[in-house]
Amino acid sequence: MEALIKNIKADGKLLAAILDCSSESLFKSLINKAAIIKEKYCGNVVYLRGLIEYSNICRKNCYYCGIRRDNKTIVRYTVKEDEIINTAKIAYEKKYGSIVIQSGERNDKEFIKTIDRIIRKIKQVSNGKLGITLSVGEQSYDVYKMWYESGAHRFLLRIESSDEDLYKKIHPNDEVHSFINRLKALENLKKADYQTGTGVMIGLPFQTSEHLAKDLLFMKDFDIDMCGMGPYLEHHKTPLWEYRHLLKPQKERLNLTLKMVALLRILMKDINIAATTAMQTIEPEGRIKAIQAGANVLMPNITPAQYRDNYFLYENKPKTFEAPEDHLPHLGKKLKTVNHTIYYGTWGDSKHFFRKNGQ
Ligand code: 5AD
Ligand code: SF4
Repeated sequence: MEALIKNIKADGKLLAAILDCSSESLFKSLINKAAIIKEKYCGNVVYLRGLIEYSNICRKNCYYCGIRRDNKTIVRYTVKEDEIINTAKIAYEKKYGSIVIQSGERNDKEFIKTIDRIIRKIKQVSNGKLGITLSVGEQSYDVYKMWYESGAHRFLLRIESSDEDLYKKIHPNDEVHSFINRLKALENLKKADYQTGTGVMIGLPFQTSEHLAKDLLFMKDFDIDMCGMGPYLEHHKTPLWEYRHLLKPQKERLNLTLKMVALLRILMKDINIAATTAMQTIEPEGRIKAIQAGANVLMPNITPAQYRDNYFLYENKPKTFEAPEDHLPHLGKKLKTVNHTIYYGTWGDSKHFFRKNGQ
């Protein structure tokens, strides 16, 4: 078994075998190997991004997501412009260094203009010093470029699954949910000079280890700069709820996610990998475990309190404002116990991005 992880390389069969293997000692060795690589290439530091869930209005209808268009049981919201600017200002003052603006997907003119204005204003109130990552879905190249020129410099767009057949099983089969368009959007982000991040959900119904191995190879081939991946969590107001009997127990999905993080760190030594909220939903220590498995980015939720309850992608998502586990001194202490420190007040860019661009 241990032989499997001696020489980990971009080989689908090998990666799938590692993901499939239930040996505890293999699990531990894999995590250790990733931890050593991370320390060497990234250091034991954690970058922060204050996560602002800007709006739960979405034009899409993904089968797994609690804020999909057809879920009429949730209250839709958009954070007011002055509130988001103010939240960003607080993040800057608290030395987060960077924020992520995340939102359901819209591509109407008003949305595009508002995001542009928000980016410019945040740059103004932080003297250009707060880093801005966007996670607001598929847009045209021109829109991506405009936002880049206004000051956003990193973008996360999860491929969700790199296998076209699986992608089609978890999305409606129409123009709005086209796999090809999603790939094109990722290409356009690169072309528009963003540090580009993607990711997948882990433990989806119908998903096999071969699919996940393919996801890792996709990320390597695409030469991503950043990754955010997390366990799939079922939501009762979504079409995939019907297939919940096919799911692995949540704890297993978390462990599989940790293996994915470790494998990706081994395959892509200097990219940024986020320890995502969904991991913490399964287990309070989920994100810390991800940091130990090779992740180097944490995204504490800083969405203004009154909106929190409605960004409900999956069940049991932590909802309170400044949840104690997201309180920075608390996080700092927790990280110290696993030999990591928070790097305050920095953008925390992907080293990989600069290396591949010869800088
Ligand atoms: N479980 C886990 N992750 C989910 N996302 C959406 N719905 C779920 C779910 N039920 C993730 C998707 C999306 C990101 C914003 O949230 O990967 O890209
Ligand atoms: Fe909308 Fe994203 Fe949810 Fe799909 S996953 S329904 S695009 S918020």
